[in-house]
Amino acid sequence: MTEQQQQNLGKKVTVMGCGYVGKAVASYWYEKGYYVTGTTTREEKISDLETITHRSIVMRGDELEAVEKVINNQETILVSIAPISDRQVDAEAYAQTYLPTAKNLVTALTSNSTVKQVIYLSSGSVYGDKKGEWVDENSSLYTESDYNKVLVEAEKIVLELNRDDINVCLLRLGGIYGPKRELDKRIGRMAGKILPGDGSNYVAWIHLDDVVSAVEFINKKGCHGVYNLVNDVKLTSKELCDLICDRQQLERVSWDDSKPPFSALNARVDNSKIKQEGYKFIYDDTLV
Ligand SMILES: NC(=O)c1ccc[n+]([C@@H]2O[C@H](COP(=O)([O-])OP(=O)(O)OC[C@H]3O[C@@H](n4cnc5c(N)ncnc54)[C@H](OP(=O)(O)O)[C@@H]3O)[C@@H](O)[C@H]2O)c1
Repeated sequence: MTEQQQQNLGKKVTVMGCGYVGKAVASYWYEKGYYVTGTTTREEKISDLETITHRSIVMRGDELEAVEKVINNQETILVSIAPISDRQVDAEAYAQTYLPTAKNLVTALTSNSTVKQVIYLSSGSVYGDKKGEWVDENSSLYTESDYNKVLVEAEKIVLELNRDDINVCLLRLGGIYGPKRELDKRIGRMAGKILPGDGSNYVAWIHLDDVVSAVEFINKKGCHGVYNLVNDVKLTSKELCDLICDRQQLERVSWDDSKPPFSALNARVDNSKIKQEGYKFIYDDTLV
């Protein structure tokens, strides 16, 4: 056993929502020697989780008792939930996923004495359309769209947890890329096609490895408050698509400016706060 595994041994950490990110964090923590609990809403995923957790639980965030049980005796909770669907879901499904979980977590934490760190994953899209301006953690949030209303409301609920002995850290993530979600493949599939919008909106990205690594950084350091977690790349949708198509020698994407863009975000998201905290990006400017 390594020295680090020995230090972490027995520390109880929970990943609520073992999806793309949650599984990667659970697996990392498992290897580092933590005692890992992972949750899913689906019984059929349990056998998969058994190899990367010590305890795998089927639960939903809208069940208060289940949330209370899961966080019982834990030290760190990562909340990494997102609506279950392969397609874009409606705002109501968004609300049904994020809001009850946030509320129940806060309620459950008010009577819990073991949890010292909560890490809640949110999205940089909460800044909305800022006409390509720079935004940081103090910038205004865009609540005109029904989706963003939900994300912002969930953030508010989590941040209102008023306990001096619990660090509540909210990470606003860029679009996640990494193994199985490679930009080369995702954007490559669009080559030669027409996308909605004029492509001039700034988007933000973060590699899966950086999400995992930043979550552990926050967990180890004990951070509180809001942090943007996006890499250094500041490109518009068009610049990004051109770059990725060109480097694979694919036909470029075209744009239809009569339609609204997919992404709610049009801002250059500043990541200095987390850097000043001491976090070092693995993929600060590499898009894979
Ligand atoms: N993907 C991105 O590009 C992106 C960008 C910005 C922010 N984020 C944020 O990053 C986090 C992780 O994203 P991801 O891509 O890893 O999501 P994902 O792969 O869709 O995983 C979501 C997880 O949440 C679980 N879940 C869904 N509804 C739930 C509920 N009501 N109660 C409890 N658990 C529930 C799912 O359960 P099952 O195991 O049953 O599926 C799954 O484990 C999310 O908070 C998301 O908002 C993601």
